[in-house]
Amino acid sequence: MPDKAALVLAAGKGTRMHSDRPKVLQTLLGEYMLAYVLAALRPHFGDDVWVVAGHQAQMLQAAFPDRRFVMQAEQLGTGHALMQAMPTLAGAGCRHILLVNGDAPLLDEHLVRIFLEKAEGADIAFASIVLDSPGAYGRVLREGGQVRAVVEAKDCDAPANGAQIHEVNAGMYLLDLALVAELLPCLTCANRSGEYYVTDLIALAATKGHSVRAVECGKDESFLGVNSPLELARMEELLRARVAERLLQSGVLLHAPDMARVSPFARIEPGAELTGPCEIAGRSEVRRGARVASHCVVLDSVIEEGAELRQFSHLEGARVGVGATVGPFARLRSGAVIAANAHVGNFVEVKNARLGEGAKANHLTYLGDADVGAGANIGAGTITCNYDGSHKYKTIIGEKAFIGSNTALVAPVSVGAGALVGAGSVITKDVPEGDMSIARGKQKNLPRKKV
Ligand code: UD1
Ligand code: CA
Repeated sequence: MPDKAALVLAAGKGTRMHSDRPKVLQTLLGEYMLAYVLAALRPHFGDDVWVVAGHQAQMLQAAFPDRRFVMQAEQLGTGHALMQAMPTLAGAGCRHILLVNGDAPLLDEHLVRIFLEKAEGADIAFASIVLDSPGAYGRVLREGGQVRAVVEAKDCDAPANGAQIHEVNAGMYLLDLALVAELLPCLTCANRSGEYYVTDLIALAATKGHSVRAVECGKDESFLGVNSPLELARMEELLRARVAERLLQSGVLLHAPDMARVSPFARIEPGAELTGPCEIAGRSEVRRGARVASHCVVLDSVIEEGAELRQFSHLEGARVGVGATVGPFARLRSGAVIAANAHVGNFVEVKNARLGEGAKANHLTYLGDADVGAGANIGAGTITCNYDGSHKYKTIIGEKAFIGSNTALVAPVSVGAGALVGAGSVITKDVPEGDMSIARGKQKNLPRKKV
């Protein structure tokens, strides 16, 4: 039974984003906003993390199929979201919860750790930050240094005018669940938003003499929430710059750090070389000595040691082996495996196909559902015809086979090892090992009619 669990608030519509998607499904560097918050929590809570979903809940569940959700059918405020989660949390038997807004993608594991340490022992603790312009954040009201309340920006009146208070609520709380169960029925929606505010728990607890602590986090922008497209763009840029800085410090050769967009979930080894602008997203890995030239997009792909991606190549779910060369202008789609020292040249598309060690497909080719043996040469304009309109079929090309230019290989078909296919052939039958095959109209030379 966990003593502590985490609850992420993600049910809100995010009206200010003007989007049909739930706000936490907006992306930064190709990753959902919510993925960042969950990644910050995982080291501390493992699977004891629940997410409150509401607006477009099905979309959220589809994007995070392994997560545990609590439903908030009507979004009546952050306090109301917590009310919906109480039975689940009580059922899980935990005594404390870390409650966190799902719209804070700059959070990280380290910040969560520090907060948990400093929050320990209080009945209610929350992170506070200091902002020059407190904007729409909840203001921290103190009396004689003691926290008395958090007052939402909309509800701030003169003379306690919120604009003069720079300490604000960052949206992360450690709560004693027994106390929360006692206080939640006292929340009302008698405020300018007409919502149940989770932040009202602070004044309620303080009034009843419970220990309420603001964990002061200074000017740390990592707690900032994303509420508008402008804030999303700013946060994404902050995150991008942080990743670039981290890569440089770890020893990655990053030539244009201001133009590289690398997901924090990608693994780039020291000694890998990236020439910006480029985009490396998802769970991609770029190994030591590999080079990614400018204008490449790499998603969920592995680039092994010493491999080279030349300019404008686009990879998704691909693997490029040691010392292989890809591009410029190559497209490797899901299941493309380029073995060691193989070459894929310009305007070559590879999908669910393996190009064996040292094999070459240098120009204008489509290899789909294919297995190409080591040392084979695929001539310019070769197409594997893998689809008959209803099914996909496989093409097998043996080691050191030579496929002449402008060949159509109509799958299912195989070309044996060491075989040669003449240029312009349409191959519909298997070619035995070592044979030469030509399948095209014979050339006739006729005297030209006089005009
Ligand atoms: C909230 C805090 C504010 C704090 C700020 C920090 C409240 C009342 N105010 O304001 O004090 O300074 O965060 O960023 O909590 N959500 C639900 N269900 C709802 C409403 C919201 O799950 O019914 C979720 C949202 O999806 C979002 C999070 O709660 O992830 C925060 O909601 P949001 O509307 O962004 O609150 P803020 O106005 O930013
Ligand atoms: Ca917010």
